[in-house]
Amino acid sequence: MSAASLQGLRLLISAGPTYEDIDPVRFIGNRSSGKMGFAIAEAAARRGAQVRLVAGPVSLPTPAGVARTDVRSAAQMREAVLAGLPVDAYIGAAAVADYTPAQVAPGKIKKNEARFALELVRTPDILAEVAVHAARPRLVVGFAAETDDVERYARGKLEKKKLDLIAANRVGVPGSGFESDDNALTVYWAGGERALGPAPKTRLADELLDLIAQRLRTA
Ligand code: CTP
Repeated sequence: MSAASLQGLRLLISAGPTYEDIDPVRFIGNRSSGKMGFAIAEAAARRGAQVRLVAGPVSLPTPAGVARTDVRSAAQMREAVLAGLPVDAYIGAAAVADYTPAQVAPGKIKKNEARFALELVRTPDILAEVAVHAARPRLVVGFAAETDDVERYARGKLEKKKLDLIAANRVGVPGSGFESDDNALTVYWAGGERALGPAPKTRLADELLDLIAQRLRTA
């Protein structure tokens, strides 16, 4: 079967972690490798889409034919994503930090105290914001990392964030997850679901894009 074409469509994809600075030498990050989002960007460009990839700090090469914007923090990722609208589809594959330090210390924090508390504040939910934006893409796709009750939590996010599709990582499948080359996803939408993998992230990206292309053709 030949891959469904995305010729003429604009896709905006976020990938990787975000780093939230504490002081000039420290940050809060996470273990997202960016591989899933980069694989989606690469496969979408191969299908003829015009792809903009907003990447957090990762050491991955830019896929052929993809326009890349590098960012560090959740706030910077939000700005770059909103600047990338309008598009036909937004795919939020980034592991955006949910919290960021209330203040960035201007100088290196010294270990003066036996206990040290860091105040964190919520970051804006980029995905939820894109989904209610005046220039809302026709298709908004989120990711979710769930360990328990995968379907209930994923469907909760689908509804709450007003998404069209959500791809839930089936955490706990051997060899899948954040730093792995393989993954297992279940994609949920209103009235349906599809289990993908376990398979290499490059293959999952293609299977996810089949679903996305199908929805964009009928949307
Ligand atoms: N996301 C985002 N902006 C944030 C946080 C998350 O755009 N500030 C997006 C991610 O790109 C991903 C999805 O939202 O597509 C993940 O949703 P989230 O509610 O953060 O779920 P989990 O990461 O699974 O975390 P939790 O269950 O703790 O809420």
